[in-house]
Amino acid sequence: MLRAGAISGQAHARAMRAARPGMFEYELEAELLYEFRRNGAQFPAYTSIVASGPNACVLHYNQNDRRMGDGELVLIDAGCELDGYAADITRTFPVNGRFTDAQRTLYQLVLAAQSAAFGAIAPGRPYSGIHEAALQVLVDGMLDLGLIDRSRYANADDAIADKAHVPFYMHGTGHWLGMDVHDVGSYRDLAVPGKPSRPLVPGMALTVEPGIYVRPGAGVPEQFWHIGIRIEDDVVVTDGGYRILTGSAPKSVAEIEALVGKGQA
Ligand code: GLY
Ligand code: MN
Ligand code: MN
Repeated sequence: MLRAGAISGQAHARAMRAARPGMFEYELEAELLYEFRRNGAQFPAYTSIVASGPNACVLHYNQNDRRMGDGELVLIDAGCELDGYAADITRTFPVNGRFTDAQRTLYQLVLAAQSAAFGAIAPGRPYSGIHEAALQVLVDGMLDLGLIDRSRYANADDAIADKAHVPFYMHGTGHWLGMDVHDVGSYRDLAVPGKPSRPLVPGMALTVEPGIYVRPGAGVPEQFWHIGIRIEDDVVVTDGGYRILTGSAPKSVAEIEALVGKGQA
């Protein structure tokens, strides 16, 4: 799984280097598949998502046939399968190599949510704490940025209880990962009455994938319309906490801005 994660991360870096405004999404898909295969991966672990501009707000978009515009983001969710094991990585980056202020603001929010989610991973901690940690950060940000109407809620917990975040964050923060991309295994402790969330155990492998997706709508600040961002990494629970398997995929704003478009045209 380490090797599947490393190859997949390199493939994301390759797609970043290749990206230019005016290219088609499938051209980036081709870069990913090339990097998977030339490193010995047998297959993509699932159909790659290359979703530019408004397509990033369509969760399972995989037509990958749109021409990418200047000033847009592209969200790529792609991982290889190596010797039966899957990787599952998402990166989101500006097609022209430079985040706009609105894009950067939301990107940093998702990154902060992912960081909080990582902080909830340790042996003995409940699986559900990962999602709760990410959601808290995302909803605080949604309140600060006016995506959720602050006048209606006393705090983030109130907004979460009312599902006010669901128009902008409608999926969970991860899943088990292994021989399948959504691997088998319960998320609850079925042996315990009430079936509480399962405690994390060293060796468990999972994804951590917060996101934010802003479609146009009444009361939604226009500067954020059509921005869709997800950041997804693969981790394994260790004795001391966790280990990230997908660190080869560039992730900070600085790393991304330094890399995008820097490959041969
Ligand atoms: N690539 C599918 C998922 O992220 O769950
Ligand atoms: Mn995933
Ligand atoms: Mn994914």
